[in-house]
Amino acid sequence: MQAIVMTGTGGPEVLVAREVPEPQAGAGEVVIRSEAIPVLFPETRLRSGEFPLGAPPPLVFGFQAAGVVTEVGSQVDPGLIGQRVVAATKGFGAYAEFVAASADSLTFIPDRLSAVDAAAVLMNGSVAIPLLETAALSGVETVLVEAAATGIGSALTQLAKEYGAARVVATAGGPAKAEQARKLGADVVIDHNDPAWTTRLREILGGATVDVVFDAIGGASAAELLDVMTPPRGRMLGYGWLSGAPAQVSASDLITRGLTFTGCAGPDWLARVAEAGSTVLARAAEGGLTSLVEAVLPLDQASRAHRLLEDRTPLGKIVLRPESGVS
Ligand SMILES: NC(=O)c1ccc[n+]([C@@H]2O[C@H](COP(=O)([O-])OP(=O)(O)OC[C@H]3O[C@@H](n4cnc5c(N)ncnc54)[C@H](OP(=O)(O)O)[C@@H]3O)[C@@H](O)[C@H]2O)c1
Repeated sequence: MQAIVMTGTGGPEVLVAREVPEPQAGAGEVVIRSEAIPVLFPETRLRSGEFPLGAPPPLVFGFQAAGVVTEVGSQVDPGLIGQRVVAATKGFGAYAEFVAASADSLTFIPDRLSAVDAAAVLMNGSVAIPLLETAALSGVETVLVEAAATGIGSALTQLAKEYGAARVVATAGGPAKAEQARKLGADVVIDHNDPAWTTRLREILGGATVDVVFDAIGGASAAELLDVMTPPRGRMLGYGWLSGAPAQVSASDLITRGLTFTGCAGPDWLARVAEAGSTVLARAAEGGLTSLVEAVLPLDQASRAHRLLEDRTPLGKIVLRPESGVS
């Protein structure tokens, strides 16, 4: 079968299309024939070596694939064969025509949702929902959603008011993304490509404060935001560091301002993310959450897809489609 092999850590060119043996379903596993493979932002960091991969390359790359179950291993219900699902791997194996994954990792795709849309929306919504639940918004609060036009930020922007936000302030890079964030439901959008964007935020707030920050950028801007947050209920939920560094926020920064910081990562967090999956796909099928798809590219263009994501041009997910997954 065709697969994308990560030959080492480095630039997008380390992702190479190769013929490899098809996987077999081990105990507790299924194999799916993949139709739609989402290119996820954290995968670019795994490929570059910034995040640990868990196994040494060369290996078949990729986290998630949507498709049809073709094989089940021992201790797995044979009734799963033929079901449309999104499978989550343990961190590698998904950029391929056939993908082995734990049967426990499957999220079933509702009839009215395409494999491409399921692949594009699952991660975004599944992280956004536990973030919104953790925020426990009161109905009168202002939230700040960073990188709001795409990915998890796009799902936060779409769902925030339903989960109790009164006002959604967003950041996005450049006019096209600002426009998209507005269309998704942001009341105000600030361009985070402006190095002084936190000062601009303060001007826009005009003395008002932000109750909840969904922090995807991390780094120095996270610390600058503390002075526009509402004491004592102001809470920052840190779930990413797009800037390249985690939020530069210390305990004393928080204590002296009466604020809280919640880290939203790690195994228990990821269990909550996995639990949200079926709700997300049901919502997407019913029109309650929009899948944003930038492009569907042939599987062998995985390196191009990573390059595009790192250039920050896409306005939605790039989804890879194996030749055998074209129906
Ligand atoms: N904790 C979790 O459970 C979890 C799960 C998945 C992902 N994540 C993390 O969440 C963050 C967002 O991931 P995603 O999948 O939602 O990404 P995404 O929106 O699909 O893609 C990244 C977006 O971030 C923006 N960006 C890139 N570099 C940036 C920078 N230096 N400063 C500000 N914005 C930047 C770009 O938008 P602009 O062009 O508008 O700047 C780009 O559209 C990442 O840090 C990722 O690792 C966390």
